[in-house]
Amino acid sequence: MTIKEYVKIRKEEIRDIVSKMARPPFLVIVQINEDAGSTAYVNGKLKDALELGVKAELIKLPIDTSESEVLKVIDQLNNDKKVDGFIVQMPLPKQIDENKIKLAIAPHKDVDGFHPLSKLSPCTPKGIMNFLHHEKFPILSKNAVVLGRSNIVGKPMARLLLQDSANVTVLHSKTSREDKEFYIAHADIIVVAIGKKGFLDNSFHYKSDAIIMDVGITRDETGLHGDAVANLPVKFQSPVPGGVGLLTRLALFENLLEIVGDNYGI
Ligand code: GUN
Repeated sequence: MTIKEYVKIRKEEIRDIVSKMARPPFLVIVQINEDAGSTAYVNGKLKDALELGVKAELIKLPIDTSESEVLKVIDQLNNDKKVDGFIVQMPLPKQIDENKIKLAIAPHKDVDGFHPLSKLSPCTPKGIMNFLHHEKFPILSKNAVVLGRSNIVGKPMARLLLQDSANVTVLHSKTSREDKEFYIAHADIIVVAIGKKGFLDNSFHYKSDAIIMDVGITRDETGLHGDAVANLPVKFQSPVPGGVGLLTRLALFENLLEIVGDNYGI
C-alpha cells in the first residue's frame, strides 16, 4: 500500500475515534521560526486537525522572542486545562536552548514525546515504525541503517528499530564514504535523515529487497527533494513529498489521542 493510501485509512479511523469523544481534543502549536519547511509542516498539521475534528491553534512568536518569554508561554500552556497537548516546532532560533524547552514542557502535555520522562516517541520515527508494522515489513534480525543522528529523528529511530530487534547501525557525517557504502549495501531497511538532496543515489549498491524511508526534505527552485533520488532499485522507497512527512503528521495526532486517553483514564 502507498503511504498516501495508508494515511487515508488511518485518518478515517482517527476521525471516527475523535467523533465519539465528549469534546474535541485541543492541540496548540507554538512556532518561533520563519523556516519554510516548518511553516509547510505546521500548515499541514492545522489542515489535518480540521479534517480529523481536532481543535488546533497556532501561537506564532517573533523570531527574536527571548528564552524566558517562550518558557512563560510554555508554563501557561502546561497549566491551561483546556489545552490537551502542545508542541514547540523545531528548529528554534539561536537564543533559545532546545534542551531547556524540551524539559519545560510537562510530560503529560508533550505531544512530541521529547521530554525524557515521556513514554511517547517523537513523531517521525513513530510514524515510520507504524507504517513498517502496517505493511508487515520484517524488522526482527534485519539490518537497519539509520543515516543521521539528530535528537528528533536519527537517535529515536535507532532506538525504536532496536526495540523491534533489528541490527541497527547509525551512520553520520563522520562515517567514511567507504563504510557508508558497506553498510548501505547490506541494509534491509534504510532510514535517511541528513537533509542532503539526492545523497542516496545510484553510486551506492542496494539490496533489491531493501526498504528506504526518506525523511529528508530540501526545497530549491525546482521543488521539494528528498535525501534519496527517485526510483532507486529497491523493493520500496518513500516518495518526497507525500511520504514520511504525512506519516509524521499522522503520528502527532496518534500521540495526542494517547495523551488524551491517559489524562482522562480512557
Ligand atoms: N521539526 C521537525 N520535525 C519536528 C517534530 O516532530 N516536532 C517538532 N516540534 N518540530 C519538528
